[in-house]
Amino acid sequence: MSVSLKSADDVAKMRVAGALAAEVLDYIAPHVTAGVTTGEIDRLCHEYMVNVQHTVPAPLNYAPPGYQPYPASICTSVNHVVCHGIPGDKKLKAGDIVNIDVTVIKDGFHGDTSRMFYVGAPPIQARRLCEVTYEAMWHGIRAVKPGAHLGDIGATIQHHAESHGFSIVREFCGHGIGRQFHEEPQVLHYGRPGTGLKLQPGMVFTIEPMINAGRPGIRCLADGWTVVTADHSLSAQWEHTVLVTDTGYEVLTLSPGTPAPPATS
Ligand code: MF3
Ligand code: CO
Ligand code: CO
Repeated sequence: MSVSLKSADDVAKMRVAGALAAEVLDYIAPHVTAGVTTGEIDRLCHEYMVNVQHTVPAPLNYAPPGYQPYPASICTSVNHVVCHGIPGDKKLKAGDIVNIDVTVIKDGFHGDTSRMFYVGAPPIQARRLCEVTYEAMWHGIRAVKPGAHLGDIGATIQHHAESHGFSIVREFCGHGIGRQFHEEPQVLHYGRPGTGLKLQPGMVFTIEPMINAGRPGIRCLADGWTVVTADHSLSAQWEHTVLVTDTGYEVLTLSPGTPAPPATS
């Protein structure tokens, strides 16, 4: 498998899938409150995707090589959970930070996006981690243009995170996306400018940095999916699906509730 270039037709379908994925996050936002279980959030998102949007929740029963089928329709990663948190009976509590990661399939194409949510008013350091991670994702997005290299994306994300004293998770990365959930290329969130694949118009991939407040190391729980920080420090992640255009980039996972891009400076 190599990196596919999407046709105008494919891109039109990916815009639809991307917007629908983002709209699930808009829909669930008011439900992310203290006392709600992550299982209830999953149930609500599942019903919305299947019955309202007529989309397919891509995570449900997703089983990449070496993994058991994923048992839910979204990922909910709370506090020190880095990614792939499995929704369950645990109630959210005031002060939690939670990533909700949604991937839908519509008309054969995937849209993949995640945001951080605050339950009540988390501590200032937790909010700062979420903000810096959001800025880091956008630094990566703004590096996207024809002729740029994947290493340019990774390098600017890494620089932003580390200059704030945070660390980049190395074991998981962004990915090409289209008819398949995870396609080539791998989009690392660290690296060196000018290295790696050269970007061309028509490429579509996610940028989804996982950034830890403490050390970069991670551990996978016995459920085979849930990834946590080894030092139990907080972790944050944001994700967009991005198209390389003739002049730069287009974010495909936009909806009315998408947070505004950070100011440039
Ligand atoms: N949505 C995740 C990503 O951004 C992948 C989740 S795989 C699942 O790539 F099976 F856990 F859903
Ligand atoms: Co992704
Ligand atoms: Co995702």
